Amino acid sequence: MTSSNAPLAFVIGQPIAHSRSPLLHGYWLKALGMVGAYERREVSPEGLPRFFAEMRDGHFAGCNVTVPHKEKTLSLVEEATAAARAIGAVNTVWREYDRLIGDNTDAYGFLTNLDERAPGWDSRGRQAVVLGAGGAARAVVFSLLSRGFHITILNRTTERAEALARQFGAQVAAASLRDMERLLGTCDLLVNTTSLGMQGKPALELDLAALRAGAIVNDIVYVPLETALLRTARARGHVTIDGLGMLIHQAVPGFERWFGARPVPDADLRAILEADIAATG
Ligand code: ATR
Repeated sequence: MTSSNAPLAFVIGQPIAHSRSPLLHGYWLKALGMVGAYERREVSPEGLPRFFAEMRDGHFAGCNVTVPHKEKTLSLVEEATAAARAIGAVNTVWREYDRLIGDNTDAYGFLTNLDERAPGWDSRGRQAVVLGAGGAARAVVFSLLSRGFHITILNRTTERAEALARQFGAQVAAASLRDMERLLGTCDLLVNTTSLGMQGKPALELDLAALRAGAIVNDIVYVPLETALLRTARARGHVTIDGLGMLIHQAVPGFERWFGARPVPDADLRAILEADIAATG
């Protein structure tokens, strides 16, 4: 139970039943002994303006935004952070008086996960290969640019990779899948941002024989926790990083905005999420 003026936040999307965000925020509310609530709410594209109007009127503190509303939300908030504008999508909204502020915390989550799982990952070589050219790739490219990386984007649809590279400037290039072997040979970090390897999707079939020995491999997929890509990379002796930490860390800034305390992700939370993934997929 929460008192009537306790802060309330939502995760909105369509569908929304599978979101693990309530598990995450619920854990922190309890661990920190805080008054507040975090709930799923299914919102249709047509219902989005009305939802934000309610937020402006003070009915709740804020929300996370997921598929299919991340891009549209950018045009519905009064102000967007530099990250949200560069990525072209909003995943976290809070209210300041009657103005809504939109942020994109995926970049923060992505970088914090790598910093945690592979300290010093960005202080050796700075050549990255990013697989995919969708919304998740935009957040990853934006993140890696902030750490001084040179990035090559590879994607099934080459034109999408080229468009993304153009948007981000000289440090970012697009290449054809035919160049994969050559690029893997000089790569320090390989990131999968495609939906391949996700439960219910085809596996990402990638020959890692050419991958440079010291390269780190990160898959932002977290269901399953260890994708075929990570399994193959681990067997070849690469440092591998799954996507669960990105999910956890991207949630931190929103929690702090809505509920007023900054949670510190701990091993218990990760264990709870791992168990939930193992049980429900
Ligand atoms: P998100 O916003 O989660 O990144 P998206 O914009 O739909 O989602 O992008 C999905 C990415 O996975 C794209 O890079 C997509 O490649 P295309 O741009 O060629 O569509 C990639 N992807 C999805 N299914 C794929 C498949 N069967 N083979 C190769 N790439 C695939």
